[in-house]
Amino acid sequence: MFEIIPGILEKDWAEIERKLEIYRPFAKSVHIDLIDGKFAQNTTFFDPSPFVKYSKDFLFEVHMMVEDPIKYLKPFADAGFNRFIGHVEKMPDQTEFVAQAQLLGEVALGIDAETPVEAIKVSFDDLDSILVMTVKAGFSGQSFMKDNLEKVKKLAGLTTIPIEIDGGVDAATVKLGCTAGARRFVATSFLFGGESAQQQYQLLKECVE
Ligand code: DX5
Ligand code: ZN
Repeated sequence: MFEIIPGILEKDWAEIERKLEIYRPFAKSVHIDLIDGKFAQNTTFFDPSPFVKYSKDFLFEVHMMVEDPIKYLKPFADAGFNRFIGHVEKMPDQTEFVAQAQLLGEVALGIDAETPVEAIKVSFDDLDSILVMTVKAGFSGQSFMKDNLEKVKKLAGLTTIPIEIDGGVDAATVKLGCTAGARRFVATSFLFGGESAQQQYQLLKECVE
């Protein structure tokens, strides 16, 4: 019912691989952040091909904080990604994005911290999930923006598809997200703020169960 999804926002493959090895013993899904320097003032590792090596071990979702995310669907699908989360802010055609992503796996639309729910123009029936940012997209380690929970509440009243929150998730905010109606929780820096990532992950899990 509830899922904690470890995240990776990195520029170097070596660092990505190090985190995948850390997550491997306990996580099924992993959230990979993709940022192109145009959507936000940051850039991440951009080549999906080395992920192939891990495609049997994880369900990979790609969180596309990019201009025109449709371009990345095929290369990421070829590398074994299963879930495609495209942000609406710089997406020229939501219907086209959703149609193409549906052919390749699960599709989600994401809304950034300042974007209202109404910016989602396609029917919720055509989506597998929705991502609501709880920080401004671009960086890990920012603090949770509580106001965005209003959007989670609103969406939870409009659809039964899973709502995922991303940004600033910790042992306290995960509960707030849960109460608002979120079912998936991306966590990155919190996992590295304790003795072990597995313990931190377990802690978040216990908070929502
Ligand atoms: C922010 C990314 C998030 C981020 C989460 O743009 O989409 O996935 O890495 O990191 P924490 O959990 O540290 O806020
Ligand atoms: Zn993300």
